[in-house]
Amino acid sequence: MNKVTNIIKTIPLQKLRDLRDQITHRYKSKQGKGIQSADEAIAYLAFRSPATSAVQKQIFTECPKDNFHPESMVDLGAGMGLSQAIAAGLFPSLRTYTGIEENSYMVEIGRKLSDEIDWIQQSYLAADIPKADLILGSYTFSELSKTKLLPALEKAWATTQQCLILIEPGTPEGFKTILKCREYLVQNSGHIYAPCGHNGNCPINPENDWCHFSKRLERTKLHRDMKEGSLPYEDEKYCYLIATKENWSPTYKRILKPATTRKGHIKLDLCTPDKVESPTFTKSKNPNFKEIKKLTWGDRLE
Ligand SMILES: C[S@@+](CC[C@H](N)C(=O)[O-])C[C@H]1O[C@@H](n2cnc3c(N)ncnc32)[C@H](O)[C@@H]1O
Repeated sequence: MNKVTNIIKTIPLQKLRDLRDQITHRYKSKQGKGIQSADEAIAYLAFRSPATSAVQKQIFTECPKDNFHPESMVDLGAGMGLSQAIAAGLFPSLRTYTGIEENSYMVEIGRKLSDEIDWIQQSYLAADIPKADLILGSYTFSELSKTKLLPALEKAWATTQQCLILIEPGTPEGFKTILKCREYLVQNSGHIYAPCGHNGNCPINPENDWCHFSKRLERTKLHRDMKEGSLPYEDEKYCYLIATKENWSPTYKRILKPATTRKGHIKLDLCTPDKVESPTFTKSKNPNFKEIKKLTWGDRLE
C-alpha cells in the first residue's frame, strides 16, 4: 500500500463519509471553508485529492514542452503538497519545491507523505514567497475574500520567474476568479499560454457562460467505496490559466464545449481572439476531417 492509502485506512470508511459530509456542509452553508481537524484533512485526501491531482496533472501536461524546464516550484495553498510528486514526474528538471500552506492539519499530513517539500506554514498573503520558475495556485484563490484576490495574485506574479498556473473549480464563480486574474496578468505583461490561444479580451461574457473543462479520472476500488458510487470514473470540472513571463504562446483555437457530431459533420465551439465561433466541419470539404473528428472539449485546434 502506498503512503496515501495507508493514511486513509487509519479512518473507518463510514467515518470518512461523515467527515466528507461535514466539510461539504460547512462549505455550502458558508460557515467557514477550512479543514478543522487532522481527520478532516484525511477525509479531504480521500475524497477530493484524486480529482484535484488529476486536474493538476492534466494542466502540467499542457505547459510548454520545448521552453519550460522548471528547476523551482512554489505551491500557494499547497494543501498536503501532492502537486510536488506530480510536477516532479512531469518536469525532471525540478530541484526545489516549496509548499506554502496556512493550515497545520494539512501540513502535518503533507510531512508524512513526502520529505521532498520545504514547508512554509503561513498565509501566502503574509509569507515571503520565494521566487520560482513555476508558481501554482490550485483551488486556493477562490477561498480568499474578494479584497484579497488581487494582492495575492500580485505577489504570486511578482515571484513567478517563468510560469504561473492557476486552477479553480469549473463553476461560474471559479471562472470569474480566473477572469479577474487573467485581466490583471494581461495588463501586467503576462502572456496567456492556456487555455486561451491569444492575449486579447476574453470573448465569454461571465454573466451568460463560463469557460471550463472536464477531466475524467478513474476511481480506484477504495475511491469507489468511499464515494458510494458504482461508476468506475468521475468527471471533474475545472477552470484554469497558464501565464508566462516570456511570450511562448502559439496561436490556436481552443475547443470550449463537447463537439456536436452528425454523420459527416462536426460542429465545434472555438475560442478566438474576438469571439466564440461555432464552425461546422464537413467530411466533404475538409481533407483533415479524420483528425478534426478526434478532437474533443479542451483540445486545441492549431
Ligand atoms: C481547496 S484546498 C486545495 C489544496 C491543494 N492546492 C489542491 O489543489 O488540492 C485550498 C487550500 O488553500 C489553503 N489556503 C487558503 N488560503 C490560504 C492562504 N491565504 N495562505 C495559505 N494557504 C491558504 C487552505 O488552507 C487549503 O489547504
